[in-house]
Amino acid sequence: MSSRLKNKVAIITGAAKGQGEFEARLFASEGATVVLCDIDVEACGKTAEEISSSGGSAVSMTLDVTSEPNWIGVVEQTVEFFGKLDILVNNAGIYSRVPIENASVEEFDHILEVNLRGVFLGTKHAIPAMRTSGGGSIINISSTAGIVGNVGSGAYGASKGGVRSFTKYTAIQHASEGIRANSVHPGPIDTDMISDNLSTAEGRKSTESRIPMGRVGSIEDVAMGVLFLATDESSYMTGSELVIDGGMTAQ
Ligand SMILES: NC(=O)c1ccc[n+]([C@@H]2O[C@H](COP(=O)([O-])OP(=O)(O)OC[C@H]3O[C@@H](n4cnc5c(N)ncnc54)[C@H](O)[C@@H]3O)[C@@H](O)[C@H]2O)c1
Repeated sequence: MSSRLKNKVAIITGAAKGQGEFEARLFASEGATVVLCDIDVEACGKTAEEISSSGGSAVSMTLDVTSEPNWIGVVEQTVEFFGKLDILVNNAGIYSRVPIENASVEEFDHILEVNLRGVFLGTKHAIPAMRTSGGGSIINISSTAGIVGNVGSGAYGASKGGVRSFTKYTAIQHASEGIRANSVHPGPIDTDMISDNLSTAEGRKSTESRIPMGRVGSIEDVAMGVLFLATDESSYMTGSELVIDGGMTAQ
């Protein structure tokens, strides 16, 4: 076990699977105490047990990121159990490919509710705890869809663009307190979120053809960037955008 996150306490949302789960395991292997949160608490519980039984420190908590009472409970319990909060990874998210003219108001609102309100609420309730801890790092998982447009969706891009901008407001308002906030912008990453597209040879090929490096990203690719932003190695970075997309948005 190495120790880039020794003595740090981290909350990771959307930790039941995909990127969040991998980041929870990575953070724990770097010495952090990890609170894995998701609506799917059973899956988080299994991962937390595996981390604990291999010598790491982790617990699971139920969290629907759209719920303010849920957030209050998770932050309160984290501080009660572990004494502080140093890191928040706002990773939970949902995706939609529905083009603008076919999207319903309900669908638009739901995407914004999970992807943007979730980040707002997490930030709002983490900040007082981080202030008491003497600072912290908030990492918001946006997307390349928060920087450039795409043929599918509209709501997803708007939610991720909102996350990108909201991150900068957080950074400015809390820089003097040692609370940093940065956004991460992955390109297509091989998880369940886009498995409908990647599961066909044609879909995968068409996705790969848009990426200069010629491959879809892995959960490791993103997690290594998230880890860097969580550590004190990035202590002069706040309000920045970390793009991890195989060169897709550089074109
Ligand atoms: N996979 C990609 O291609 C890609 C690309 C760019 C950005 N992202 C972003 O990365 C993040 C992680 O996505 P992933 O690829 O691991 O997807 P995933 O679908 O594998 O995992 C998403 C997780 O979020 C959880 N979640 C959904 N709604 C929730 C809610 N209301 N409250 C709490 N948890 C909730 C799910 O249960 C799931 O565990 C998301 O924010 C996503 O938008 C993904």
